[in-house]
Amino acid sequence: MPLMEWTQDLSVDISSIDNQHKKLISLINQLHEARLQGRGKEMVGETLTALIDYTRTHFSFEEKLFDTHGYPASASHKEEHLKLIDQVLDYKNDFAKGDLTLSTDLMIFLKDWLRNHILGVDKKYTEFLKSKGVE
Ligand code: FEO
Repeated sequence: MPLMEWTQDLSVDISSIDNQHKKLISLINQLHEARLQGRGKEMVGETLTALIDYTRTHFSFEEKLFDTHGYPASASHKEEHLKLIDQVLDYKNDFAKGDLTLSTDLMIFLKDWLRNHILGVDKKYTEFLKSKGVE
């Protein structure tokens, strides 16, 4: 059973971004599955790296839109992105050093962070970006 599912309430009403959020959810679920199935450290590490890489790609995509269109809340939104990347990189470094097994707490953190970020922060740009013709 997936840890997280994309539901309509998570839509930011911009299809390119909804698709990226769906992919992030899929990567979180892949990491969850890799853990549950007791996959080796290498496999779990690769999945965690893929999640971090795609998260960076997604954040850059949003931030380019903010810069292109002069989104007023850009600075605080970028700060949220930076904090998440720093936190997850810390987890990744601990994992690589063998100090950490990927705990249920990390999975719940990722799931809750993504959900709360989409609902509480991402959704705030919908009206602005749509007014600039972003779809
Ligand atoms: Fe969809 Fe601000 O991340």
